[in-house]
Amino acid sequence: MTIGIFGAGWVGVVTAACFAELGHEVVLRDVVPERIEALQRGEVPFHEAGLAELLQRNQEPLTFTLDVADLASAEILFVCVGTPRTYSGDADLSAVWAVVDELPTPEERTLLVMKSTVPVGTGEKVRAALDSRGLAHVGYVSNPEFLSEGSAVRDFMEPDRVVVGAFADADGDAVAALYEPVGAPIVRSDVASAEMIKLAANAFLMTRISFINEIANVCEATGADVVQVAEGIGLDHRLGPHFLRAGIGWGGSCFPKDGVALKQLASNSGYHFQLLNAVIEVNELQKRRIVGKLEKHLGKLRGKTIALLGLAFKPNTDDLREAPSLVLASRLLAEGAEVQAWDPVADARHLLQGVTFCHRVLDAVTGADAAVIVTEWDELRLLASDDVREAMRRPVIIDGRNLLDPEQARAAGFDYEGIGRAASPLAPLPETQEPEPQLET
Ligand code: UGA
Repeated sequence: MTIGIFGAGWVGVVTAACFAELGHEVVLRDVVPERIEALQRGEVPFHEAGLAELLQRNQEPLTFTLDVADLASAEILFVCVGTPRTYSGDADLSAVWAVVDELPTPEERTLLVMKSTVPVGTGEKVRAALDSRGLAHVGYVSNPEFLSEGSAVRDFMEPDRVVVGAFADADGDAVAALYEPVGAPIVRSDVASAEMIKLAANAFLMTRISFINEIANVCEATGADVVQVAEGIGLDHRLGPHFLRAGIGWGGSCFPKDGVALKQLASNSGYHFQLLNAVIEVNELQKRRIVGKLEKHLGKLRGKTIALLGLAFKPNTDDLREAPSLVLASRLLAEGAEVQAWDPVADARHLLQGVTFCHRVLDAVTGADAAVIVTEWDELRLLASDDVREAMRRPVIIDGRNLLDPEQARAAGFDYEGIGRAASPLAPLPETQEPEPQLET
């Protein structure tokens, strides 16, 4: 088939490369000349495992364009544009409406397929807009994406399920047929339910993370170990093991935006989504708990040097959107600490003023009073080494992702504290002052 895709962002490029790999002709269109020119030169605009190889292998069936007319012959048009958060918390649908306005006027029956994450009810509105433009022969299907950054190509090619919500069965059949080669269960639904499946799935994942983070905080107060607790919970087949890793909270381009969008969608409809509000608030507090842990070990942070290890919102991506590292770095700077940061791929120089960025982990920890593991990059698994301990001013590791083995880290001479696990007995504070208890926030 010939597939047209609006939006050469992360979802659009992955979708284009994967449909090309499945044997389709794909025309990918964006309005940003630099983005299209980079793709035409064979450059991959972001760090995503396996994507460069896929684009390289499928140069023939892939076309990148700025011109919407190049999509005129496409039988199926996917919308993969961004739907960022507005000041009110609602999803900004201006890019979606721009696509509807610019849609080539096809003579044959064509399908418009929504992959962007949109509020429930968007499909109904787009349907009405198409009808009023005399485009009743353009079918509309909701086909939300469930791609995780870092494993997006695999998630596309081996999905747990594909959701297809259509107004007309035949339109749903056509989209479902596209996914036949990936061999996943296909959930057929109405359009509004498909839209809600996407929002609810993300909200549920966030809920699991905030839940385990709160359990972690109670573990700290009661002497239990959240890693053991998560294992014990996760083996119950009704609960499952996923998204039970306690840490310093979620970030990224999706959860923060989609969580607020669902909360706002509910409140616009007159419903106060109490649980989701709490889930979001727990996450905000979780990012800040590290400051309290540092103060517990170091006393006042003014003048102390803190190494932030990992800046991306999760490993295997260079994405810094809503990364907990940004909140943490800003809090530390506000407390008067010096911050030395390292990340293997994410470049935060334009986002964080006053932070020293280092190319090597060893440079970031040199002279530091404490090192904080913010992102669980593989490179940090061997952090508890002699070299690191000797380079630091004080051998304190706060492990925001429970990446290290606590016993090994302590045996290697570090004061080690993770999330939701017993901390090392406190070493004497470097200055004659009492730490301010902050952990009950
Ligand atoms: C998420 C969803 O997982 C995808 O299914 C969805 O399609 C995507 O959003 C989207 O809406 O486009 P993503 O944001 O790439 O994908 O990242 P996740 O792997 O879900 O991680 C999100 C955050 O949760 C990260 O900051 C991660 O560190 C954190 N996390 C995850 C935890 O703190 N604990 C866990 O157990 C799992």
